[in-house]
Amino acid sequence: MVTETPATRPANPRFSSGPCAKNPTFTFDTLSDAALGRSHRAAIGKDKLKAAIEETREILGIPADYKIGIVPASDTGAVEMALWSMLGARGVEMLVWESFGAGWATDVTKQLGLDAVVKTADYGELPDLASIDFANDVVFTWNGTTSGVRVPNGDWIPADREGLTICDATSAAFAQALPWDKLDVTTYSWQKVLGGEAAHGMLILSPRAVERLESYTPPWPLPKIFRLTKGGKLIEGIFRGETINTPSMLAVEDYLQALAWARSVGGLEGLIARADANTKAIADFVEMRDWIDFLAHDPATLSNTSVCLKFTDDRIKDGAAFAKAVAKRLDTEGVAYDIGAYRDAPAGLRIWCGATVETADVAALMPWLDWAFEAEIAAQA
Ligand SMILES: Cc1ncc(COP(=O)(O)O)c(C=O)c1O
Repeated sequence: MVTETPATRPANPRFSSGPCAKNPTFTFDTLSDAALGRSHRAAIGKDKLKAAIEETREILGIPADYKIGIVPASDTGAVEMALWSMLGARGVEMLVWESFGAGWATDVTKQLGLDAVVKTADYGELPDLASIDFANDVVFTWNGTTSGVRVPNGDWIPADREGLTICDATSAAFAQALPWDKLDVTTYSWQKVLGGEAAHGMLILSPRAVERLESYTPPWPLPKIFRLTKGGKLIEGIFRGETINTPSMLAVEDYLQALAWARSVGGLEGLIARADANTKAIADFVEMRDWIDFLAHDPATLSNTSVCLKFTDDRIKDGAAFAKAVAKRLDTEGVAYDIGAYRDAPAGLRIWCGATVETADVAALMPWLDWAFEAEIAAQA
């Protein structure tokens, strides 16, 4: 049976997990105030960088004694700065349940050569969070973008930990509540939930993380773009918008515009509600179908941003080819771009549900999943 072509199309077919859809109010005109062709060290540039930091603090509710820096190389840059600058002072535990966490474990064990404990879980699961020794530094991803599994909350992190927590929150920030008292280093990129540009990373440090930076010097060399201290003291300017190297003032303007939009939809609460509503539109669909399911096994760990789905119909002969064909069909039809599962993840679909995506568009996409699924089942036969 081939279902009829659905009558309604998503107004915006951009469901990529990064770069993510621009917010619904974005136009190039909204960037017209960008400080282009001016020094980022002139007052106009510095003011914008400082505003980006302070508005981030306000919207995310980051404590006043935490430092927020804009750093090079998107989320990867921010994470690697932290790993290279802080690890080696004590034992390390790496939590790995999908591709990006696995990448950080490779950095730490193979590149830094640290004898870290690596706790892994299959796609769809979380490692045993009760087994972690917080005398160690613990590195983890808040939301696993390639499996659609997130940690449910921060209750598993003790307040009186000795080690630091280093958290890659790039697909969680602005969509999920982050307990700042449990996070010593938090990173994200503008390109994810806010639909900004990917040039820069955000590095958020607790007072304990700053204390580590000022009391510990790693045994390996640090390139200039990783250096957060000078003469054993934090370079405070970085956390006032005096960036290590030249930022894109166009990307900064775009981030400021995204933050203004975030405020206009109710700040963090409004953003979380939007992501939750998007995810619910998919959950309602999945619940009524026996041929599709979430990759996440436990509903308490289901991501509300990178929603990963697998096909479960036993008529499917080649799972990877089938999932690819469905994604391609939807792309060709112009109803959903970039929704194939991540290259290292199990075959399936990944539909971004972060705040910049409109719930009406997710809802409009669902009948197209029926359509593409039935069409590919028929094509197989
Ligand atoms: C969890 C996670 N970490 C790191 C990255 C890399 O981010 P970037 O390309 O912004 O450095 C991504 C990108 O999707 C991600 O999802």
